[in-house]
Amino acid sequence: MIIAIDGPAGAGKSTVARLLAKRLGFRYLDTGAMYRALTWLALERGVSLDDADALAGLARAHDVTVDGDSVEIAGHEIGAAIRTVEIDRVVSSVARHDQVREILRERQRTLAAEGDAVMEGRDIGMVVCPDADVKIFLTADPEERARRRTDERPGLGADALATDLRLRDRRDAKQLEAAPDAERIDTTHLGIEDVVGRIEALAAARAAEAKP
Ligand code: DC
Repeated sequence: MIIAIDGPAGAGKSTVARLLAKRLGFRYLDTGAMYRALTWLALERGVSLDDADALAGLARAHDVTVDGDSVEIAGHEIGAAIRTVEIDRVVSSVARHDQVREILRERQRTLAAEGDAVMEGRDIGMVVCPDADVKIFLTADPEERARRRTDERPGLGADALATDLRLRDRRDAKQLEAAPDAERIDTTHLGIEDVVGRIEALAAARAAEAKP
């Protein structure tokens, strides 16, 4: 079973997807980490984030392995290094290139084909796995999303984080679209247990439907 969880930054995707995967015994596939890892490598190698060909070349040459919090590319363990304000601010510049997206989407489909997984991203339900068994689109009010980010990115004030989120929303808008058959969950006033419980119930209903 594939459970697709899409939505904007700060809507609670990672927290929910991680816990859900643990509960169900599924793999957790964080597709944003792939775009972040490629961005990190491009900065490290001095590759221009405007150069789609060079970025696609880097993506083709270096697979990203994501295993829980550990992320590896080109022999570097960068699990912590990719979750910084610096990467937040430029990752959309890498993710906007269609050539790059095609390569990473293909890898994501290969991973999805390996079996049960909770896949987190922006375009999973619409493009990467349009046949996903359960599709969720998480949202939250902008103030709440910025507040959550304050815990994850200490050091930057709430106002600066809110501005960064607004900019990233605008840059990611093209990739972010709720599938028509996705269940929308507004997490602004919900606890993580509520959200995970709701998705677990949807997954159980889908599994029951699939039984002969
Ligand atoms: O979910 P995240 O913040 O870690 O994602 C980082 C960036 O990667 C995000 O700004 C947009 C891009 N992304 C994407 O375009 N498609 C995905 N499936 C996942 C992430």
